[in-house]
Order: sequence, then structure tokens, then C-alpha cells
Amino acid sequence: MVSQEALYSKASPFLAKIEDRFLLSMPGSLKETWHIILNIAGSGISYKVGDSIAILPSHDPLLIEKTLQALRLNGNEIIICKRTGLCFSLRNYFKSHVSITRVPRDFKAPEDYELWDYILDNPMSLSAQEIADLLPPLLPRFYSIASAQVAFPNEIHLTVVVTSYKSRGYLRNGVGTHFLCHMQPEAVPIYLQPSKDFTIPHHEADLIMIGPGTGVAPFRGFMQKRFIENHSGLNWLFFGEQKRATDFLYEDFWMDLSSKNLLKLSLAFSRDQEEKIYVQNLMLKEAPELWEWLQKGSYFFVCGDASSMAKDVEATLIKIAQNEGGFDLDKAHLFLKDLRKQGRYLRDIY
Ligand SMILES: Cc1cc2nc3c(=O)[nH]c(=O)nc-3n(C[C@H](O)[C@H](O)[C@H](O)COP(=O)(O)OP(=O)(O)OC[C@H]3O[C@@H](n4cnc5c(N)ncnc54)[C@H](O)[C@@H]3O)c2cc1C
Ligand SMILES: NC(=O)c1ccc[n+]([C@@H]2O[C@H](COP(=O)([O-])OP(=O)(O)OC[C@H]3O[C@@H](n4cnc5c(N)ncnc54)[C@H](OP(=O)(O)O)[C@@H]3O)[C@@H](O)[C@H]2O)c1
Repeated sequence: MVSQEALYSKASPFLAKIEDRFLLSMPGSLKETWHIILNIAGSGISYKVGDSIAILPSHDPLLIEKTLQALRLNGNEIIICKRTGLCFSLRNYFKSHVSITRVPRDFKAPEDYELWDYILDNPMSLSAQEIADLLPPLLPRFYSIASAQVAFPNEIHLTVVVTSYKSRGYLRNGVGTHFLCHMQPEAVPIYLQPSKDFTIPHHEADLIMIGPGTGVAPFRGFMQKRFIENHSGLNWLFFGEQKRATDFLYEDFWMDLSSKNLLKLSLAFSRDQEEKIYVQNLMLKEAPELWEWLQKGSYFFVCGDASSMAKDVEATLIKIAQNEGGFDLDKAHLFLKDLRKQGRYLRDIY
């Protein structure tokens, strides 16, 4: 039997149709977070909760034309890809093979440029083949699956926050999120990126889930599976976002589970009051109970921002081990190491 990893790949992705997509963030939010439903009927893809998918995006045609104009090329030039030896028109090559948002390293450009405005500000004459040779490959983008296949056999759900920012006076779009959330692709090329152990370990396992922002995605899948299969393990979700009124992703789902006593919910809305409240502040507030859960064998999951949230959550876990367990710093670190060794400290961070 072909393994799931081998079924589809970067070289041979499955073409999934977007069945539906809608905004999860409300008007007035500073963010644009989408729920995306991909149809995988007939693909043979079998995923577990906690898995991710890779998507292979295409650039926006407007950006491609802007880049071609800046380069004073028409896009019909035929180039040879130096990595594969295959021939493409330059327009097709720009579409989905190379990154045209980053300026090639050789130009030593400031990081806040895209290729098109760098060329406009620094005119140069390059042939189609020369620019094709300089551009780096367009890489896949990864997204946590926000559904359970037992609930949606032919669908993969995603929770995607749009990357967009201003630099040099221009609005820039993240390639993958713009493709998924704003463009009208006929299909989204995808392949599965299975997680090793970021998944529900067994029916009886108690789960502590730390998932601020889009980090909540896999836990939606976890809870769909737990609900449908009637798992006996306890569930505790720490969710955080900016404002309750506009950014409470999947509010009805969590509130329904909480009202049925299937989920303990700790909510950190960072911008609803003067002082920021983050998920780790609530962990500290609930430290005695959290420590009790961990002592009883709970699994501790973290998903979302790697650059600050995951580090702060880890530091808080160490603080809790010191305060509640009476450990010194070295012993608290050993506790965490042991938790990891037992497969009870699991992270999917980006
Ligand atoms: C395992 C894994 C799971 C993930 N799961 C999810 C998920 O469930 N949901 C989700 O939304 N994302 C998720 N991500 C992140 C996702 O893969 C992409 O990295 C993200 O969507 C941005 O991709 P993009 O193509 O839109 O942006 P890109 O085109 O890659 O642009 C991003 C780049 O833009 C630049 N940039 C961004 N903001 C600014 C700024 N303010 N100022 C200047 N420059 C800036 C930076 O150079 C940054 O690297 C996950 C990542 C991994 C690795
Ligand atoms: N690698 C990539 O290319 C890429 C692309 C897109 C996103 N990301 C990362 O993915 C993360 C997820 O984005 P998101 O928009 O879904 O959510 P997010 O930015 O993580 O925000 C969710 C909540 O977490 C809060 N927060 C900020 N700093 C925190 C900290 N140190 N500890 C705990 N909570 C903190 C935010 O508060 P405030 O906003 O009020 O501070 C907000 O309430 C982003 O932070 C980003 O770094 C990475």
C-alpha cells in the first residue's frame, strides 16, 4: 500500500477545490482570519488530527504583470529552469515556480523591497534567462488541519490569518495567504505533512491545549474527534486573541463544548483591557489546577507563534513547576525534559 507521505508530494500534489471560505474575524478586527474548506473527495488522503498540509501557491497575475513591466519583458520569453532543465514561458515560470516577492540575494537589496519596485528604483537590463536563473524557488506553505476526518471525510479545513503589511508606501501580500484567501484558484495543489506525535495519544488522555490565534486550528480537529468518538479524557483549552467581540475564532463551537462540560475554556483577550492578558497569564492564574492535571498525566500541547508565545509559555511552565512543585530551576528544567521524553510536551509552532 502507498504511504500517505508518498501519495502526493511537491512534485505531484493533489488538486483540491476550495469548497467554501469565510471570514472568522468580524468587522472591526485588525486581522483577517479565514476558515477555508478544501474538498479532497477521491484523493485517497487519510489524515489524523494534528497533521498539516503543504500548499503550493501561485502568484497574483497583477503582481506578475507588474514585475514583467519593471523588467521590461513581455512574459512570452522561453526560459530553461536551471534546477530541472524544463522549459517555461517566463510568465508561467513566475506564476508558480520561483519567488517574485523576494529580491534575489545577489542584489544585496534592503529587505523591505519586492522584486518589482527594487527594479524600478534600480533599473537594470536583464534577459529573461538571467532573471530566471537568479530567482529562488517558490516554496510550499504549511497549514495545520483544523478538522477531523471522522467529522468531514471529504474535507480539509484550515484556519488562515492573512499576511499583509506596508513597506515603502506599498501594501504587500503574503503569497500563500493571498492565494488561499483572496484569489480564485481553480484548484489548490496540496500534499499531506503528517505530524509524528502531535495528535491525540489515546481516548483516555487528558489534554491541555495552548492555542492562541490560528494556533487553535488543530484543537478544533482534536475536539471534533473527541466529541464524535466519545473520548473519556478531559480537555482544557487556553485560547487567546486580540478582542472577544471580533476575534473569538470558532466561538460557538467552543462555547457549546464548554456548556456541555466537555471542555474547560480559559480565554485571554489581550486587547479588551488596559493591561495585556496572554494565555500564559491564565496558566499562572490557574497554576494549582494545571499542576494537578500534569501530575495526573495530562498531555501538554502548544500550537501557534514560535517567536514569542511558545517561548513565554515554556518559561511559564517552568515557573509553575517551581512554584507548585517546589522545584529549583534545574529541577524544573528536568521536569520539562522528562515531560518531553514521555511524549507529553508536544508543540507545533511556526
Ligand atoms: C507547521 C506549520 C503550520 C502552520 N500553520 C498555520 C496555520 O494553521 N495558519 C496560518 O495562518 N499559518 C500557519 N503557518 C504559517 C504559514 O505556513 C505561512 O508561513 C503564513 O501563512 C505566511 O505565508 P504567506 O505565503 O502568506 O507569506 P509570505 O509570502 O511567506 O510572506 C511572509 C514574509 O513577509 C514578510 N513580512 C510579514 N509581515 C511583515 C511585516 N509586518 N513587515 C515586514 N515584513 C513582513 C516576512 O519576511 C515574512 O517572512 C504554519 C507554518 C508551519 C511551518
Ligand atoms: N512563519 C511565518 O511566516 C508566519 C506567518 C504568519 C504568522 N506567523 C506567526 O503565527 C502566529 C499566529 O498568528 P495569529 O495572528 O494567528 O496569532 P498571534 O499573532 O499569535 O496572536 C494571537 C494572540 O496572542 C497574543 N500574543 C502576542 N504575543 C504573545 C505572547 N508572547 N504570548 C502569548 N500570547 C501572545 C496576541 O496579542 P497581541 O496581538 O495583543 O499582542 C493575540 O491576542 C503569529 O504570531 C506569527 O508570528 C508566522
